[in-house]
Amino acid sequence: MLSDNTLVANERNSCLSIKRVCNAFENTVAFAMQKYCNVMTSHPKIYLAPFQGITTYTYREVYTKHFGGVDKLFTPFFTGIHKTKSLEKRAYELNFTHHNKVDVVPQILSKDADEIIHFANYCNNKGIKEINWNLGCPYPRVANKKRGSGMLPYPEMVKEILEKIMPEININFSIKCRLGYFSEDEILELMDVFNSYDISELTIHARIGKQLYAGEVKKDAFKKAVEKSRINIVYNGDIFTVTDFNKFKNEFETINRWMIGRGLLVDPFLPAKIKNEQVPELSEQKEIAYKFITDIYLGYRKKTNNGLQAIGVLKELWGFLAFSFNDPQKAFNGIKKTISLEKYEEVVASVFHEFDWVGSEAGLFGIHLQKDLTK
Ligand SMILES: Cc1cc2nc3c(=O)[nH]c(=O)nc-3n(C[C@H](O)[C@H](O)[C@H](O)COP(=O)(O)O)c2cc1C
Repeated sequence: MLSDNTLVANERNSCLSIKRVCNAFENTVAFAMQKYCNVMTSHPKIYLAPFQGITTYTYREVYTKHFGGVDKLFTPFFTGIHKTKSLEKRAYELNFTHHNKVDVVPQILSKDADEIIHFANYCNNKGIKEINWNLGCPYPRVANKKRGSGMLPYPEMVKEILEKIMPEININFSIKCRLGYFSEDEILELMDVFNSYDISELTIHARIGKQLYAGEVKKDAFKKAVEKSRINIVYNGDIFTVTDFNKFKNEFETINRWMIGRGLLVDPFLPAKIKNEQVPELSEQKEIAYKFITDIYLGYRKKTNNGLQAIGVLKELWGFLAFSFNDPQKAFNGIKKTISLEKYEEVVASVFHEFDWVGSEAGLFGIHLQKDLTK
């Protein structure tokens, strides 16, 4: 027989449990409503994806001088900042909280909580608003050491690191990850971990690490992650044209933040086109693109004291930009072979003279990837 006190206590506990469940439900509904309302009322946010060796300080500064439409710029990852002089070498970059009024988000690749804390505090002292943790890098030499996307199969390790760093940092902390390393199901367990911390944004490249950059993006797995998330999600993967963007937008109704990589390197006007901002005719786009690539080239010449490394970096970028011309392969072939600054300038001038600028609308980059995949 239960005493009156026990009955009252039991009743109080059940009431509290019900209240907790109701609160949790209310929070979930409020979050879902907020997400939905954000999508309905606000313009999409577009972020420049980080690219090791390409979206450098010079690229970001020149890009934002010539083009609009981007809301955040992610740096290529910083790594080994404890062990090497890496942070000092690139410290100059961290003196800039933004380029032409667009916020910069420095990214770190690390599995060492102390190193991440050091980086976060360093950036915070420089006035930077947000840092990003790379849990997406798929390359075996990184992933095999449980770094980048190689950490995704180990949610307990992610939890341990977040548990250490989150109380110690005073800066927005966002994460960029994939759906998993071996399997897209890995994201589901990871969402429970991410949801328990104050992560400012979670960018998901909708592939698994094993895919590298090939194969289809996994839309259904991405949707499942979004459903589980209590964090604002940024979609990343295979937005190469305005049509692609609209397709993904219709598919992922609650998403309003998009990170674009290769599509933007191919066509720097893509973010503005997506946002329906005024973009000039193709012929004028070509002139602006010429000024843009020339400014980047001059920036690198200055940085390298007229060294040949300038052409090396430019060739990487041309590997994408060439797909905005009507014959990408031919346009790129000449540039690929240049081994002097004079020759580079000459070949670039002839590319702009001989080839038509067709931009992303022609969809040549997407076609090229499909061709590669069926080889
Ligand atoms: C050459 C190369 C370098 C990259 N460097 C980084 C990097 O430093 N940090 C990162 O988070 N992602 C990096 N990525 C991944 C891109 O940021 C992006 O997630 C990927 O290209 C998918 O987006 P997209 O389909 O819009 O290109 C890199 C990708 C490539 C191909």
